[in-house]
Amino acid sequence: MSERLPIVDITAEQTREVRRSVLRPHQDASMLVYPGDDDRESIHLGVVDGETIVAILSMYHMAREGETSGWRIRGMASVPAVRGDGYGRELVEVARDRAWGIDRAEIWCNARESAFGFYEKLGFVVVGDLFEIEGIGVHAVMKLACD
Ligand SMILES: CC(C)(COP(=O)(O)OP(=O)(O)OC[C@H]1O[C@@H](n2cnc3c(N)ncnc32)[C@H](O)[C@@H]1OP(=O)(O)O)[C@@H](O)C(=O)NCCC(=O)NCCS
Repeated sequence: MSERLPIVDITAEQTREVRRSVLRPHQDASMLVYPGDDDRESIHLGVVDGETIVAILSMYHMAREGETSGWRIRGMASVPAVRGDGYGRELVEVARDRAWGIDRAEIWCNARESAFGFYEKLGFVVVGDLFEIEGIGVHAVMKLACD
């Protein structure tokens, strides 16, 4: 087995190239900046291969509608060359453990339909109805309970 690449803290700015190439290739650069990116409690993690970031995840201390507390995952992406190598899982687990050390609250995201299986493998479940995000496709809220 090849050596595992490390997971490191990165800046919001450092997430943007993978956000652009994997998640929003057809959108304006302004769409690569997410609300809360610069909040003190926001977590940005990257898997690095030398100088190159090959997988990213951001997590925000942000409750979903109707809830009092929570952590929101956004910008979850692995470049095609490392997909299936377990880095997406590792990023979620590292962020989850760090977030729950601060506030043990549910973790949630607006998941793309094509990623439902990924989140399900990590213990997330779909909450509520499917909805469309223009230009990206069908989504659902998925959550990982904290108890
Ligand atoms: C979804 C994504 C982040 C997964 O990242 P990854 O690094 O390939 O995930 P991992 O290798 O850690 O996979 C963890 C497990 O989920 C499974 N899995 C990964 N992607 C999956 C998918 N799209 N559907 C079903 N299962 C999936 C893997 O097979 C693995 O299963 P295992 O633990 O039984 O071996 C990556 O495919 C991606 O960037 N996709 C395009 C962008 C995207 O859709 N992001 C999510 C937006 S909500």
